[in-house]
Amino acid sequence: MSFDIQKIRSDFPILNRKVYGKPLVYFDNAATTQKPRAVIDRITDYYTNENCNIHRGVHHLSQAATTAFEDTREQIARFINASKKEEIIITKGTTESINLIASSFGRDILQKGDEVLITAMEHHSNLVPWQMLCFEKEASLRVVPFNDKGEIEMSAYKDHINDKTRIIALAHVSNTLGTINPVKEMIQYAHGKNVPVLIDGAQALSHLKVDVSDLDCDFYCFSGHKAYGPMGVGVLYAKEKHLEAMPPYQTGGEMVESVSFFETTFNVLPFKFEAGTPNVEAVLGMGAAIKYLEETGMESIEDYEDDLLAYGTQKLKKIEGVQLYGTACKKTGVLSFLIDNIHPYDAGTIIDKFSIAVRTGHHCAQPVMDRFGIPGTIRASFAMYNTKEEIDQLVEAIHQVKKMFG
Ligand code: ALA
Repeated sequence: MSFDIQKIRSDFPILNRKVYGKPLVYFDNAATTQKPRAVIDRITDYYTNENCNIHRGVHHLSQAATTAFEDTREQIARFINASKKEEIIITKGTTESINLIASSFGRDILQKGDEVLITAMEHHSNLVPWQMLCFEKEASLRVVPFNDKGEIEMSAYKDHINDKTRIIALAHVSNTLGTINPVKEMIQYAHGKNVPVLIDGAQALSHLKVDVSDLDCDFYCFSGHKAYGPMGVGVLYAKEKHLEAMPPYQTGGEMVESVSFFETTFNVLPFKFEAGTPNVEAVLGMGAAIKYLEETGMESIEDYEDDLLAYGTQKLKKIEGVQLYGTACKKTGVLSFLIDNIHPYDAGTIIDKFSIAVRTGHHCAQPVMDRFGIPGTIRASFAMYNTKEEIDQLVEAIHQVKKMFG
């Protein structure tokens, strides 16, 4: 299918709005993406015509909502090529998915003296849960460093795996640097040492075709809202053998089979890990977002965004005083940079006045900033609806920042 940027832009109502009297340029997509009309309509339609609790009623509405919810689970399984829908656990988002694995799987397998391996480019959500678990279990958190370009070198990765390594947790794509890690190769190596691997896919799903069977990862986590879907919903993919062996994460309604004052038995997969009423409208909205991604075509999106990244990188490199952080050979559309020695907050505030939304600060990845010895960066992160003209506007805004502080 050909990539029609004007059609895509017209599908996102918020792109029509003006900020400070000028058309919005939205470059904060790594924080959250905007939503196409199809997603907004799906949520409105659910509350207008279908609202009901699921898995709990014999009446028509409940049956219909349950079918829609479970059909979406199947759709998600197909989208990431999981072998069965029972391997798809609905969560609040990537953070909850990782916490679930750390609390349930991690707590079960980790013993005093063991090691958990992460990388130095992890988002706090793939660092703090493991750090807390290591404190609790008197285990060690080991960290693979990245090089000046923001790449993990395979030799460094291999050097950090030993017979105490119990689990490896790493980002598919860095939210701060844009680096695409060679996760397939990393998983293969870890499996050769009998170590399971969790992939934080929050920044990958909207940019790359994700195939969990091909990757052979043990766990894959992502959020709806970073892939054109709603907030407050996400997915944990886990191999069935792990889910069967793992104790429940949260307890309560829905995740049980039978309850008495003396004993509780647990529901089958995937319900064993889904206590309480789920965020039904967000799951349906996520289904609409996935349909939108499929109809647009992941390969077309990837090609288009690669072109934007190449254009933006070349433009920013030409501006004197602009320093880019994260220049890996394999990257998604993320440009993290500083302008001369201007504080990123000051620069971001001026850029905002040009109605350009960028994120400034440490991007929930403080160790990345420590690695470079900087307080933070300005981050422009692209989505499928961005254009080269918008990048030109960012370039113009950077020149203005330089003038004002120069
Ligand atoms: N994790 C999100 C980001 O990178 C919030 O901005």
